[in-house]
Amino acid sequence: MKSWCPVLESIKNSQGFQKSYAWLDERFQLSPLVAFAAKKKVPMHAHSVWYYMGGVAFMLIAIQVITGILLSIYYIPELGSANASILKLTTKVEFGWFIRSLHSWAANLLIGVVFLHMFSAYFMKAYRPPREITWWTGLILLVLMMGFGFTGYLLPWDEVSFFATKIGLDIAGKTPFIGEFLANILRGGPQISQATISRFFTIHVFVLPLGLMALLGGHLWLVQSLGMSEPESFKKLPAEKKKYEDFFPTFVLKDVMVWLLFFNLLAAFATLAPWSLGSEADPFAAAPDGIKPEWYFLAMFQFLKLMPSTIGPIEGEMVGMAFFALIALILALVPLWDKGHSAKLSAWATRFGVIVILGFVTFTLWGAWS
Ligand code: HEM
Repeated sequence: MKSWCPVLESIKNSQGFQKSYAWLDERFQLSPLVAFAAKKKVPMHAHSVWYYMGGVAFMLIAIQVITGILLSIYYIPELGSANASILKLTTKVEFGWFIRSLHSWAANLLIGVVFLHMFSAYFMKAYRPPREITWWTGLILLVLMMGFGFTGYLLPWDEVSFFATKIGLDIAGKTPFIGEFLANILRGGPQISQATISRFFTIHVFVLPLGLMALLGGHLWLVQSLGMSEPESFKKLPAEKKKYEDFFPTFVLKDVMVWLLFFNLLAAFATLAPWSLGSEADPFAAAPDGIKPEWYFLAMFQFLKLMPSTIGPIEGEMVGMAFFALIALILALVPLWDKGHSAKLSAWATRFGVIVILGFVTFTLWGAWS
């Protein structure tokens, strides 16, 4: 294939490149991969912009890995030292504040981008066969992302993070059947203590990253082997009206440009609004007013606040958690009930998605302002 760029073309034709490629090809069998990438096409339509979101999430994960490794050089997961180690990192270590700010802002941006990616895949009906497993690995990735956020939030051990984690664990404890068991395992006892910091740290830096590597590997492999899905409106077009672009290099280069855009946004947030650190948590002090969890748990938190203390014989919050579990189950099973054979079910899936988004946005804003 002739390259679109004369500089790339001359590099490709140079003896050095040809020799190095032949050496690598013999050892790593690259030719089938290169042939695959050269053949892969990306559909071009009004909603193509959403195809970039998965890539942006991937770039943000890379930033989390790099900044997380740097933070772990200074962080001490111990009761008397956790808060002080972050204070030292942000005030004494050169650019420590920036690395921490990047890590915290990127965590939030990442969860926002993953939500956008999930709902765009949902409304493009990209979960339909044969992409059920792409959808399911994606959903577990979302849970992992929220797990990273929840466990990371406690680590600086300041007042807000301590009490927000306490509320979070109390809420998790209300999940029917498994809640109490799960909250106890995470807490390492009846109260948040040294055991909780140790467990959250281990989960945050070992358990979740291992799960992430396995699932992300599977997710990306499926995305590459199945190719991009095409929305219904695109599929219906006559062949001559369907436009595609090359995955490599055109789409990949555009991907990198979108990454740069998001990286600039992230760097602007991290520099102009450096992530703050509150005073060291005192587990025996009263909870300050207005403690709230991170924004991605706020809708749940606000909804549960509205529940009466009991509904019949059952605790109100437990009914609320069962309701969330039901929504998650309907979302998880969507590839099984909307396979694209029934226009009625397809319309129901769209309506359900709109209701979930409206509910999520309304309760999040309500929680933020109340
Ligand atoms: C850690 C987070 C995630 C990363 C890094 C990631 C990465 C990607 C990438 C790079 C793509 C291909 C480009 C694109 O369509 O955007 C993709 C496709 C896809 N992802 Fe994800 N993803 C993540 C989470 C999720 C979640 C939470 C879901 C849904 C529950 C999901 C479902 C899908 C589906 C169905 C596709 C196929 C889209 C298509 O063929 O049009 N992903 N993902």
